[in-house]
Amino acid sequence: MRIAISTGGGDAPGLNAVIRAAVLTAVHRGWECFGVRRGFGSLLGESELMPLGPNEVRGITHLGGTILGTSSRGNPLKWRTQRPDGSWEERDRTQELFDSFRANRLDALIAIGGEGTLGIAFDLWKKGLPVVGVPKTIDNDVGGTVATFGFDTAVATATDAIDKLHSTAESHERVMVVEVMGRNAGFIALSAGLAGSADVILIPEIPFDINKVCDKIRRREAEGRHFSIVVVAEGAVPKGGSVSLIDPAHERLGGIADKVAHSIEQMTGKETRSLVLGHLQRGGGPTTFDRVLALRFGAAAVRLVADGKFGMMVALEPPRIVAVPIAEAIATPRRVPLDSDTITTARDLGISFGD
Ligand code: F6P
Repeated sequence: MRIAISTGGGDAPGLNAVIRAAVLTAVHRGWECFGVRRGFGSLLGESELMPLGPNEVRGITHLGGTILGTSSRGNPLKWRTQRPDGSWEERDRTQELFDSFRANRLDALIAIGGEGTLGIAFDLWKKGLPVVGVPKTIDNDVGGTVATFGFDTAVATATDAIDKLHSTAESHERVMVVEVMGRNAGFIALSAGLAGSADVILIPEIPFDINKVCDKIRRREAEGRHFSIVVVAEGAVPKGGSVSLIDPAHERLGGIADKVAHSIEQMTGKETRSLVLGHLQRGGGPTTFDRVLALRFGAAAVRLVADGKFGMMVALEPPRIVAVPIAEAIATPRRVPLDSDTITTARDLGISFGD
């Protein structure tokens, strides 16, 4: 067997651990592995496939990023190029990808990615490519799995940042508004906000009322707590408002912390600062939890290939790693359930969701 491995979309800590586990598991079966560089790049004539053996994956479990490189803009089914006049042209490059797959005598593709990449993997599988999926994202929003690797590391990074903000917020008696990633899911904000003792957590699943946010800050002030920490998910939306975008053409979220901070300062008179944690949350080595999950996913993906379970994705269903149809995973993106125990716990602790 000759197996191709690709990493697509935004990187997440743990990608290298998946690659290592998949390569070693395949090599132990006597199979050969090849890395597809920059998303699907090496299957679209951009670069050579990268032969992957034990030497190439030695000592990478703890490393962030991906040794294969990745791309968020390389959908072979809807390949976009910009015309000289600035407009965009879209074309389907599936045939090229299939031709390259055959020319390289590949037998299977392990596609490691989030919602977008798994959607592409599903479309390629429907067209006949033997694909197995591995869910990845710091956002934790892929359906069909209780967790994706990368999330735990991102939450640890965000929590560490919130811990550090506490001392400066308290010294200056300020409100600090910190924006975390997560796209349209509030998992990072909720977990990091709870772990980091935030006073307010704003998530996309609960549209917020800025008056309620200010009420909470005023109440703290009256109780002699002259600083507050507000954690806001990049996809959080004010009641009746819309999501904040910094790049509408590419649907890049951002800017909500600044808006919330501005309103808080105007409405409460409290000095307020905002910061965006951004890609820090995607960087660095994976936590132990993410390493173990990623290694389990990588090895399980090869077992799915061995069993011919194409069109399926590995998933965590504690305590087991199971296989779920990729179709199911992308049909139902995960969101923070409003009745979740974590939300109830945060409310019990007096944290405001701005509702
Ligand atoms: O999906 C992962 C993620 O980091 C989101 O949390 C964030 O909105 C997005 O990717 C950022 O994408 P980019 O790296 O293209 O700016």
